[in-house]
Parts: sequence; structure tokens; C-alpha cells
Amino acid sequence: MSTQISVPPQLLLERILTLEIVRVTERAAVSAARLCGHGDEKAADQAAVDAMRRELNKLPIEGTVVIGEGERDEAPMLYIGEKVGINAGPRVDIAVDPLEGTTLCAKNMPGSIATMAMADGGTLLHAPDVYMQKIAVGPGYAKGVVELDATPADNVRRLAKAKGVDVSAITVLVLDRPRHAEIIQGVRSTGAAVRLITDGDVAGVIHCADPENTGVDMYLGTGGAPEGVLAAVALRCIGGQMQCRLILDTEEKRERAREMGVTDPRMIYGIEDMAKGDCLFAATGVTTGSLLSGVKFRKGVIETETVVMRSVTGTVRYIKAEHRQLEKFHLD
Ligand code: FBP
Repeated sequence: MSTQISVPPQLLLERILTLEIVRVTERAAVSAARLCGHGDEKAADQAAVDAMRRELNKLPIEGTVVIGEGERDEAPMLYIGEKVGINAGPRVDIAVDPLEGTTLCAKNMPGSIATMAMADGGTLLHAPDVYMQKIAVGPGYAKGVVELDATPADNVRRLAKAKGVDVSAITVLVLDRPRHAEIIQGVRSTGAAVRLITDGDVAGVIHCADPENTGVDMYLGTGGAPEGVLAAVALRCIGGQMQCRLILDTEEKRERAREMGVTDPRMIYGIEDMAKGDCLFAATGVTTGSLLSGVKFRKGVIETETVVMRSVTGTVRYIKAEHRQLEKFHLD
């Protein structure tokens, strides 16, 4: 007797793609990890890009990179607008950061990851690779509890009140950059704590979703726009709030953004503005960090750890893999 599959084809494919994108970030992570500690950021990034592109081009999708490594003239591969996949299957948008934390990888420091997101075609923010202002908090708060245009001190006080704790119990994660001096000073002026990171704000934002384990309540500051969209997809899956604004501070950037459909250069994007439809997020650790273990090269086995999330169900899977067909990885 034959069994009837009652899952709609689109959903079935999406469930399959959830695991397929794990392969993509795994390969990118392994390729980058071979170059950990070699001090060559460009080579590590290129290795991750090459591997991610090769794997994406095996997937049964009609994919378009909508935000990623830069535009065609500056990024020879996985550039914004590049088509990926076997050109059959669902039309999907793709956001990539094949090596998030290139410096961390080159210096063999904690926290570099290979990451990507996939969503229904036309639903992810299509924007140039510019800077983006960001604020994020985890789930469980009333909408608008913090706001991008409120002062850092005000946001800390609002979050503490909503959480029912003293401001001294709040920790804000910030990229350690001179441009963030005022944010850092503003947060500290309230009595709240700042946790500084040298790189890696995709993981930084994700940390806000689980303050009990990470000790991070809020993310504040300016980082890359692709990283912002990737983090928004992750929060779309696991809950939380985020507000962002592209920094389009030259006519050239505004023009590039306009060509990609950004009509209001000052627009504040919420999570649903950056990821409107069903979406998937995956990240594999390159170097061990607080989110994921890094790639381990053992005798005859390569080990990876990946987190993969799906917005439809909110399921988060941590996948530890042992790869034995090493010749496949030697292609990288
Ligand atoms: P890369 O790996 O692309 O260099 O990104 C690392 C990172 O720290 C991101 O997490 C962050 O969004 C961005 O750089 C911040 O940019 P900058 O290093 O120019 O301040």
C-alpha cells in the first residue's frame, strides 16, 4: 500500500532545504578553517566564498543573492544579484556572509562563523553592502520597548523597566570601535554594563535572544548591512526585536540603494521589513566561540557544529557532524 504525503510540495522542499543549507555553511567553514591563524584575511574569505558558491550551485533552487559580498565590480563571487542554484525549484532570496569575522579567523581568535539565510523570493531586504545602525533585544517584550532613535541611556532604562530589574542588571553588547564611544559612554552612564566584541555582530545579535545563558540583553551599534539582515532572519526564527537603518551617507550609495528598491534612505527597518516571508538561517563555527564550536581536523575526520533555524516552526537545531569523505573537502 502506498503512503500519501500530505505535506505541500513547497513546504516539503523547504524542510529539505533546511538540511541542504547546513551543507553549504559546513563546507564554507571547513575551507576557511584550513586558513585559520595564517594571518591572511583575504585568502580565508575567498576560500569560504568559493566553497559556499560551489555548494549553493548544487541546490535545487532558483536563487538570487540579495545581500552579501558586495557588488559585482568589487566581489567576483556571491555578489549582490548573482544567480545561484541549479535554476530549477523554488525562487528564493539568499543573504550570505561566507566568513563572518574574517579577522577572527585570520588571527585564530574565537567567534568566526560561516553563515547564510534563505527566504521566499522577493522577501529579504535587497540593499548594498553598506553600514547599518542596529538595535536588538530578545523575545518577551512589548513591541517598541527599545527604539533605534532613542538614546542608549534611555533604551537601557526602558529595557530594565520592562524586564523588571535594576539598570545595573542590564548588559549591552557593542562592537569595540571608536565610532561607538558615545554609545558605550551612554550605556555606562546608567550603571549598566557593556560587553565589547572585536568582531562578529551576527552572533552578537543572536545572543540577545537568550539573555539567561549569554548574559546579553541588548545589542547596539553600527555594523555591516548583510550581517544585519542575517541576524534579522535568525531573530525572525527565534524571536526578538530589531530596528535598523542603512547608512547611505553619499549620493553614490543612495543611488545604488535606489536601484535595489530602497525608496526611503532614512527608513527604519524592523525584522519583518528585512525578512518578510518564511526564512531559514544557518551558521557553522569556524573558530570556537560562544555560539558554536569551531572546525576540528582530526585523523580521518573533520568535525563541524552548525545551528540551523526555520521561521515557520521556530525550530532550532544544533548539528554536530563528522565528515569522513575527506576527499570531498580536499576540493576546497
Ligand atoms: P567581516 O568578517 O566581513 O570583516 O565582518 C566582521 C564584522 O565585525 C561584522 O560582524 C560587523 O558587522 C562588521 O565587521 C563591522 O564592520 P567594521 O569592522 O568595519 O567596523
